[in-house]
This record gives sequence, C-alpha cells and structure tokens, in this order.
Amino acid sequence: MDIMEQPALKFMQHFFYSEVWKQTQWMGINTLKCPSDLFLYQEILTKVRPDIIIECGTFQGGSALYFAHICDLLQNGRIITIDSIVQPNRPVHPRITYIQADSGSIHTLMQVKVFIEPTDKVLVILDSDHFSEHVQKELALYHPLVSVGSYIVVEDTICDEVSFEFNNPGPKEAVTKFLEQHDDFEIDTSQHKFHWSFNWNGYLRRIR
Ligand SMILES: C[S@@+](CC[C@H](N)C(=O)[O-])C[C@H]1O[C@@H](n2cnc3c(N)ncnc32)[C@H](O)[C@@H]1O
Repeated sequence: MDIMEQPALKFMQHFFYSEVWKQTQWMGINTLKCPSDLFLYQEILTKVRPDIIIECGTFQGGSALYFAHICDLLQNGRIITIDSIVQPNRPVHPRITYIQADSGSIHTLMQVKVFIEPTDKVLVILDSDHFSEHVQKELALYHPLVSVGSYIVVEDTICDEVSFEFNNPGPKEAVTKFLEQHDDFEIDTSQHKFHWSFNWNGYLRRIR
C-alpha cells in the first residue's frame, strides 16, 4: 500500500505538522521519532538481535540511547552512530560509539567497517539528510553491510508526501530507486500494522 492510500494519513499529517515529535524524549533526551516507530524498533531488535546497529543521523543521541537500552535488555548489540554535527551533552553509554562524519562518504563507511566482525549481524538505520540524493548515496554505501534477515530502515519516507518543508524528492524516492536495482531487499509491509509510522514502506528487509 502506498503512503497516500493508508487509512490513517490524515492523522499522520496532523501528528507530523503538530511537531510534537520534536518534543518527544527517551530518558530525557530529545528523540525525533514517532512513538509507534520506536515500538517497531523494539520488536525488530528483539527479533533480529543485531550485533551492530549503524545509525546515520545522531542528533542529540536520544534514538541511540533508546537502541542501547533495548540492547541492554537483550544483552547484545552496540550502536555506531554518525552525525556531521557534534551536539553537547549527548548520552554516554558503553554500547554507543559516536562518529563525527558525513554519512554519505566512503571514508565514513571505512571508519564504520572497522567495528564490524565478519560474523556480526548488522542492522542499518538512515535518519540523516533526507534529500533523495543523499539517501540514495547512503543506501548504496551501507546496504552491503546488512545481514540476511536484518533491515536497512529508511526513516521519514512520509517527508515526500506530508512535509511542507520538503518540496524535493526525499527518502521515499530513494527507496523506490533502490528497490528497482536490488531484489535482495523487500519492503516489510507487516511494519505498517499500527497505521502510524514516519517510515512508511521504509522498513527494508534483506531476504538473500
Ligand atoms: C533527523 S536528525 C536525527 C534524529 C535522531 N536519529 C533521533 O531519532 O533523535 C538528522 C541528523 O542528521 C544529521 N545530518 C545531516 N546531514 C548529515 C550528513 N551528511 N552526514 C551525517 N549526518 C548528517 C543532522 O546533523 C541531524 O543531527
């Protein structure tokens, strides 16, 4: 189902425009997420049990801390989180490694690869610059790292449809172009179950 056909679109638009997601916190740290997507992440991490989570787009570190706490409960996993901008007072947690770099650069990919062992199960989250061109670059760079059965999550695919700030092609276009070239990934439509997600058609599962 396309984003525009999904029954709760009006509510999602209302929620997005209200910008309440800018006041959403995990353990006191701003976390720019839709709460139902956080719940989906908890389910995915529990199912996949990744050894390494690569997050492009740290912001204040709220999502990285959330992933780290889920990993604490699962007793497995570490988070490598990349942002071009350093923010003060990001949370310190033994499972989190911060990298200051452009997530769309091959040099950054090389930096990230140092942390990954050949047997590691890897999950990737793209939540940095949401312009289509940048997301396409990230998809090209990071998709080979994703383990079979794991995910590359392209965040904020709804930007192409509902964001008034976003009059340019965004993550949704990048996903479409990526899937035209990569039949080893598929959209996990079961992640639409709450009918309330910023990452509509953005949960891409590696199937081979
Ligand atoms: C949407 S925020 C990340 C939100 C965070 N993941 C969360 O859920 O709280 C996007 C972040 O991407 C960063 N960013 C933008 N362009 C980038 C780039 N080319 N490389 C790395 N980070 C970038 C911005 O500095 C910003 O902190």
